Amino acid sequence: MILRDFLSKRGKHIEDTVDLSAGTLAWSLRAKKKANEMDGFINATIGSATEDDGKLMVLPTLVEELSNLNGDQIFSYANMRGVNEFVQAWKKDTIDTYPAYLQEGADTFSTLPITACGGLTGGFMISAQVLFDKGDTILAPNFRWRNIDNVFFRNLQFKESTYELLDKEGNLNFDNLISKIHEAEKEDKKIGIYLNFPNNPSGISPTYDEVKKFQEVVEEISIPTTIFLDDAYEGCAYEDSVIEHSLFPHLIGLNEDVVTIKVDGVSKRYFAYGARLGLVTVGFGEEVSEEDKVDVRELMAKAARTNTSSAPKGIQVAMSNVLNDPEKNKQVHKEKKRNTSILEDRYRYMKKLVGEKESSVLQPVEFNSGFFGYFHIKGKQQASEISHKLLEKGLGTVPFENVKNGLNGVRVAFSSISEKNIEKTVDILYSI
Ligand SMILES: Cc1ncc(COP(=O)(O)O)c(C=O)c1O
Repeated sequence: MILRDFLSKRGKHIEDTVDLSAGTLAWSLRAKKKANEMDGFINATIGSATEDDGKLMVLPTLVEELSNLNGDQIFSYANMRGVNEFVQAWKKDTIDTYPAYLQEGADTFSTLPITACGGLTGGFMISAQVLFDKGDTILAPNFRWRNIDNVFFRNLQFKESTYELLDKEGNLNFDNLISKIHEAEKEDKKIGIYLNFPNNPSGISPTYDEVKKFQEVVEEISIPTTIFLDDAYEGCAYEDSVIEHSLFPHLIGLNEDVVTIKVDGVSKRYFAYGARLGLVTVGFGEEVSEEDKVDVRELMAKAARTNTSSAPKGIQVAMSNVLNDPEKNKQVHKEKKRNTSILEDRYRYMKKLVGEKESSVLQPVEFNSGFFGYFHIKGKQQASEISHKLLEKGLGTVPFENVKNGLNGVRVAFSSISEKNIEKTVDILYSI
C-alpha cells in the first residue's frame, strides 16, 4: 500500500481487515466464471431476486415513475432529512404492514425516519456512530450479514460479542442471546444488540411465540440498550406462525432503557438495490414528547450530514409519487406481491424436496423466510471445500465458515434460482 505512511489508525485497520473480494462477492465471481464455461450452471450465490430468465426482478410501476422524472426531480439536492412527502409516506407504508393493534403505538413511540445515503449500510453507519464508541460492546448473531462486521467491528471497532442464533437442530433459539444480555448487564455500562430477520444467511425468522419470549427479556433489561434492527428482507416470510413484518412495533414502548433503531430501505423492500436509499427510524421505550422526537431525528440528520450527506433525490421523488398516489400504490403493492409469491413458490418447492431427502454431509436449518436456505456441514469437511465441490458440479453457493463462531455451512439463494432449477439444485446439493 503506497499510502501506508499517510494512513490514520482507522485507515490502517480498514486496509488490514476489510477484503472487498472476500465472501459473497468472491463466490459470486467464481460462480459467474463457471457459468460461462458450463452449460446449465445454477448460480445461487446472489442475494438479489431474479426472474426465471435470470433478469433482475423489479417493480414496473417504480421503473416507469423513475423514467418519467424531470431533471430537477432527479438532480436537485434532497432535504438532509429526506424528501418530506417521501419519509411521511414511508412511515405509513411501514406501519401499514403491522397488525392493527400495534399501529398506533408504532407511530406514537417512534420518530419520522431520516434518509441514509448508501442504503441500509449507510443507515447503520449513521446511527451506530452517534450511539457507540470504539470498544463498546455489540451483541451480534453468529449467523450474520458479513458487511455488519465491516461496519461495526472493522470500521467503528466496536467490541464483538457473538450469540448463537440457532440451536443444534437448526431452530431459532433466543436463549444464548438472553444469557449474553444478562452477562453484559453485569460487565457493561451499555450495549448494542444487532438483530436481522429474515436472517442472512440462515433464512430464519422468529415465530410470534419466540418474539413474545424476547419481549419479556426486553422488558427486564437494566442497562441502556440499543437494538439495531436490520430489516433488509422485511415482508418475506412464508409460514403462518412466523412474523412477516418487522419486530420494531413489538420492541418499542416496553422499557425506558431500550431504544430500537429500525434500519430499512428500498434495496430489497422495493427491489431497488442500486438506488442506494436507506432509512433510519428511532423507536423509544416510553412515550416521549414531539420535541424530543424532533431532537433525536435532528441528531440522526446531523450525523448523516457529517457522514455521507443527503440521500439520492430521484428515487425519493419516484417512491413518493408511487406511494402517495392511491392507484400507483395499489399497483406497486400488487407487483411486490407477485414477486414475493414467486419467491415463496421457490421456497416451498425447495423445502419440500429438502424434507424428502437425507444427506450424510448437509443438514438444512429450519429456514422459513427471506431469500436464502442454509445447510450445516455434518462432518469434518469445511464449508468452502463443499462450495468448491458444488461449483464443479454446476451449483454456485456461498460458504459461511467461522470456527470461532460455530459456523460451517453453505448458503443457497433460492431468490435467484428459477423454479424449474430448484429440483436440480437440490439434486446437486444432496449428491455431495
Ligand atoms: C441482512 C442485510 N442487511 C443489509 C443489506 C444491505 O443493504 P444495502 O445494500 O441497502 O446497504 C444486505 C444485503 O445483502 C443484507 O443481506
